[in-house]
Amino acid sequence: MMDEKELLDIENIEIKLLLDAIYMRYGYDYRDYTLSHVKRRVLYRLERSGCKTISELMSKVLYDYETFGLLQVDLSINVTEMFRYPQFFTDLREKVIPMLKTYPSIKIWHAGCSTGEEVVSMAILLKEEGLLGKSTIYATDINEHVLAIAEKGIYDIKHVQAWTKNYQEAGGNRSFSEYYTAKFDSVIFDQDLYDHIVFTKHNLIQDKQFITANLIVCRNVLIYFNKGLKNTVLDLLDDSLVAGGILGIGSKESLQFTSLEGKYDTLSSKGRIYKKQSGLDYE
Ligand SMILES: C[S@@+](CC[C@H](N)C(=O)[O-])C[C@H]1O[C@@H](n2cnc3c(N)ncnc32)[C@H](O)[C@@H]1O
Repeated sequence: MMDEKELLDIENIEIKLLLDAIYMRYGYDYRDYTLSHVKRRVLYRLERSGCKTISELMSKVLYDYETFGLLQVDLSINVTEMFRYPQFFTDLREKVIPMLKTYPSIKIWHAGCSTGEEVVSMAILLKEEGLLGKSTIYATDINEHVLAIAEKGIYDIKHVQAWTKNYQEAGGNRSFSEYYTAKFDSVIFDQDLYDHIVFTKHNLIQDKQFITANLIVCRNVLIYFNKGLKNTVLDLLDDSLVAGGILGIGSKESLQFTSLEGKYDTLSSKGRIYKKQSGLDYE
């Protein structure tokens, strides 16, 4: 009979083999996501798969694209909401918008945008500040399924009360209902918010820089990566930002002890908003 420690060791070996197999078979690289996150999600899928062991699940994943698709959705936690962590948006309004107002055009990259709520929140903020017309927002995610939802802009009406509260806490002073039309159990956000958004698939680990932005928002994504991978992704974001550009990360994420520490000034420590140093002494 195997003891608990042996079983845990075997599971960790199986997870490593599973991630290698996914990389070799499908080209998606989850090998540097944190073990605790991957393990939680793999065990969740295992329970629902009818398989007894992770090794058994691995062969199902290898032979059946649908099973891989389900595991992929599990691995990418897609939880999000409109005006999530309102302080981030209040601080953007106060500390970043005045800067953006001086630019002739604005490029924003939402990396890991999930189902799009964060991107719509940004579009609303820009509209209220008179900046939407000169902005292009690139919204990307590794997961095609969530991008398809984001592009539709249709959400369950049950979220609206909480989102309205977030909007108000984020400094919104209009009626949040101005931005959507309610239909049966859904709300459909206004098309004009989407006219300046480009949704596209992008994998932060394997794909290269694809724009140079004035503002990059990458919130609640780095949290799933180990230290080395976090640095690789932060370097990609850094390369994709103009000198003096702004980087926003999640409330539980930090630039401390990363490759960007010392290269960015803090604009809001609570809001986790940072400004890339320009390297010019007179700044
Ligand atoms: C928790 S959601 C965060 C959504 C939104 N940024 C927010 O804070 O509300 C994390 C998102 O990161 C995406 N993601 C995970 N790994 C990624 C990768 N390697 N490249 C791009 N997106 C990734 C997931 O698919 C998921 O939609």
